[in-house]
Amino acid sequence: MWNGIIEKYKDFYDIKDGEAVVTLNEGNTPLIPAENISNILGDIKLYLKYEGLNTTGSFKDRGMTMAVSKAVEAGSRAIICASTGNTSAAAAAYAAKAGIKCFVLIPNNKIALGKLAQAILYGAEIIPVDGNFDDALRIVREIAEEGKVTLVNSVNPYRLLGQRSGAYEVCDQLEGKVDYLSIPVGNAGNISAYWAGFKDYYAAKKIDKLPVMLGFQAEGAAPIVENRVFDEPETIATAIRIGNPASWDKAVAARDESKGLIDKVTDDEILQAQKLLASKEGVFVEPASAASLAGVIKLSKKGYFEKDKNVVCVLTGNGLKDPSVVSPEKELKVYSVKIEDIKAIIDKTLGSDQ
Ligand code: F0G
Repeated sequence: MWNGIIEKYKDFYDIKDGEAVVTLNEGNTPLIPAENISNILGDIKLYLKYEGLNTTGSFKDRGMTMAVSKAVEAGSRAIICASTGNTSAAAAAYAAKAGIKCFVLIPNNKIALGKLAQAILYGAEIIPVDGNFDDALRIVREIAEEGKVTLVNSVNPYRLLGQRSGAYEVCDQLEGKVDYLSIPVGNAGNISAYWAGFKDYYAAKKIDKLPVMLGFQAEGAAPIVENRVFDEPETIATAIRIGNPASWDKAVAARDESKGLIDKVTDDEILQAQKLLASKEGVFVEPASAASLAGVIKLSKKGYFEKDKNVVCVLTGNGLKDPSVVSPEKELKVYSVKIEDIKAIIDKTLGSDQ
C-alpha cells in the first residue's frame, strides 16, 4: 500500500520512529508520456507529471504533509497561511485530518471556486482580504511570529522539504533520465524544491546528471523574469498571480546552477496550452499548470531543445478546481430529443470516412 511521501522517502526525511505523521496518502502521481504533443512539437519527448491527482488536487499536499506533521509534533493548535487557493485547500484538509484549526487569508474574489469550496468544506476559518497574495503573505508572516499559530506557507522550511518528493518521483519514474524540467513559477517555492530534490538524488548517487530547470511566470505577474516587484500582478492563472515571490533568490539559484531559464508566457499561450493538454492528451489542468507546457512550446518554436531529449512538464493542479475558463452557454447549442437530429449531428461530424 502507498502510505504517502514521508514513508516512501523516509531516507530523506528526518522523521523519528513514533513521531506523528499526518498524511492523506499524497504523492505517487503518474508521469504520463505525451506522445501526441511530442509528435506535434517534433523535437522532444514530453512527459506530464500530473500533480492534479494528489488528494486535494495539487502538488501542495507534498509540502503540507511535512509541515502539518511537524506542527502537530511541536504541539501547535493551529496553522495559518496566505493563498491563491491551492495552499489553502491543502492546509485546510491536513488540519482537518490532524484535528487542529486552520486560518487562511485569500485575495477576495481572486481564487478559483473549486479551491474555495474545498477550504470551506474542510472547515477552515477563511478570511478574504481586500488585497493581493503578497499583502496577505506579509500579514500572516507577521502574525506567525507571535507564536500562537504555525505558518504553513512555503517559507516554512518543511513545506519545501516535502515538495522535494516530486523530483524524487520524477527521477524514479524516468530512471534518472530527466533532461529538462519545466514548471510554473508563482511564489517560487516549487521550482526551488524540485531543484533541491534533484541535488539530493545526485548527492545520493541515485542519478548521474542534473536536469536543466525551466520556470515560467505569467506575463502580467513576472517579477523574476523582469527583475522587479509587480505591485499589481494580473493573470488569468490566478494561482500564480504573485508580484513579490518569497523564494525569489532560491529560484534564481536553481535557474543559474542548472544553466536553465525563467521566462514568461502570455495568458493566451497559457489557455492554448491548457486546451492542447485536454484535447490531445486527455489531461485537464488548471490554467497556472499549463504555463509549464506553454513555456516548452515557446522554447520548442525557437529551436531551444536538443533533439529527442526528455522534457518533464510539472502540471501542478487539477483542472476541476477552476472550470471558469469554459462557458457552456457560449460553446454549446441545445437540441430537442429527436433521434433523427442526433443522427444527423453524428453523420455530419464523422463525414465521409465512416
Ligand atoms: N501552480 C499552481 C496550481 C499553484 O497553486 C501554484 C502556487 C503554483 C503553480 C506556483 O508554485 O508558488 O511554488 O511557485 N500556489 C500558491 C497557493 C501560491 O497559494 O496555492 P510556487
